[in-house]
Amino acid sequence: MTADSFAAAPDSPARPASRCTVAVCRGCCCGSAKVAGVDHAAQVAGLEAALEAGTARLRVTDCLGPCAYGNVIVVQPSPEGRARGGRPVWLGPVNDMAAVADIAAWTRAGGPGIAEPPPVLDLYVFTPPPPKRRRK
Ligand code: FES
Repeated sequence: MTADSFAAAPDSPARPASRCTVAVCRGCCCGSAKVAGVDHAAQVAGLEAALEAGTARLRVTDCLGPCAYGNVIVVQPSPEGRARGGRPVWLGPVNDMAAVADIAAWTRAGGPGIAEPPPVLDLYVFTPPPPKRRRK
């Protein structure tokens, strides 16, 4: 599967005004040798190719916390999606390109609150632990 495999079809609609955000973790574990057997660069390149069509924003982040689920990807709803009840969806471990293609297809369809995810993504959904509180 190449980065071109993720690109939007030539007849895709123009960039939507309200886009969701795909946050790809590349912290201490995700994207590193600690998550073996994954072409991490191809994963990001595939998403970049898909999102270059303007269907969603791509954000590469530092560690999001739940390293045991690496590679972690969070699909955040667009403002319109959030208004319709969409909430961030945490996915992991996303370590195969087919799942990346499914995430790209979902964001092209509008993402959380706008479109149902491909059913196979249910296998990757998890609830992140609550953020740790700092001691005062
Ligand atoms: S490095 Fe991705 S969750 Fe920690």
